[in-house]
Amino acid sequence: MPRAFEWTYACAKVRFGPGAVEALRGYLHGYKRVYLVMGRRAAAESGALADVRPLLDSLGIEYGVYDQVVPNPPSSLADDLAARVSRFSAEAIIAIGGGSTIDTAKVAAAIAANGGSSLDYLYGRRRATRCLPLFVINLTHGTGSEVNRYANMTDVSTGDKLGNEVCYPTASFDDPRYTLSMPLEEVLCTSFDALYHAYEAATTAGSSPLAQALAEEAVRRIAEYLPLAASNPKDENARYWLMYASMLAGVAIDLSPTNIIHLFENMLSGLVPSLPHGCGLALIGPPLVPLVHSASPEPSTRLLRILDPNVRSPEDAGAALARFVKHVGFSRRLSDYGVGKDIVREAVRRAFKNPVVAERLRNRLSGVQLDEQRVLQLLLSAV
Ligand SMILES: [Fe+2]
Repeated sequence: MPRAFEWTYACAKVRFGPGAVEALRGYLHGYKRVYLVMGRRAAAESGALADVRPLLDSLGIEYGVYDQVVPNPPSSLADDLAARVSRFSAEAIIAIGGGSTIDTAKVAAAIAANGGSSLDYLYGRRRATRCLPLFVINLTHGTGSEVNRYANMTDVSTGDKLGNEVCYPTASFDDPRYTLSMPLEEVLCTSFDALYHAYEAATTAGSSPLAQALAEEAVRRIAEYLPLAASNPKDENARYWLMYASMLAGVAIDLSPTNIIHLFENMLSGLVPSLPHGCGLALIGPPLVPLVHSASPEPSTRLLRILDPNVRSPEDAGAALARFVKHVGFSRRLSDYGVGKDIVREAVRRAFKNPVVAERLRNRLSGVQLDEQRVLQLLLSAV
């Protein structure tokens, strides 16, 4: 496996590679009380929690534990967590998990430092001028949230899932070995998330050559290493490069936001939290990609030719992504996750009705006006 390294993006220190979490020790000197945040199983199964606990004990740091984060988390989780963190007088939060855990921790870190509620930050009614120090031990190769300022949660009052800029982690730790315990479907779906972060950041209106260069490298690594990780889940070298790709794609969406595929998928997985976000993207991506390709043909062609050198038309673009996910062993449909036609109709209706999402839908595809009925027909084909 290639070597470990450290770098800084924006105000986040990032330690990447095997043994990365050992560096957490250097950041925690002087802290007396911290709060650990995680889901119900990955922190323990990955081995990350077993590495962090003795580290805290050796430094004499007291800690509280919140281990109830669920996939596609409701915004109320962050409010609950922030209240616990404040009651415990925690000086910092340590998130151990994938995107759901990291995003919940970001929003809680913002509330704990600035007040307000999770929805204030998710709707941009309040900006986090500072955040409680947040240390992130990332356990997947999909989210990219360990390097960027965004958080996604579901508005419990409406069921709409949306993301906004909240805060960067203080420091993040990416150890690819922690991803080895993920079930195969999670390996695939988190990688699809990173793939779509890259594709959408490169094609969204106003994207930059910098975001596109990062996206290109991310797609290249995913195209090469996801087939290897899918056929051999113990291939640590493949996980290194998938986590690296996910990190680059996470920076790409910080530089240039995601496109319409994420906007519609967030509505779906907000309504049906058991739909893994990355799987939702893999399923609704191919019917929507021709619209994206028509709006940004040059970067779309360049990226998708990494997957299939023959991509020319908008239809080729969608087909290239559909073939790639099938090639790595993913052949499910939306209905396999309990997403029927009525839910798709509701998701599309909500996307065009939610003021924040509707404005983004108008701005992300340069020169293409989205028609609600047309989008609905395209998405129904994925059920
Ligand atoms: Fe995503």
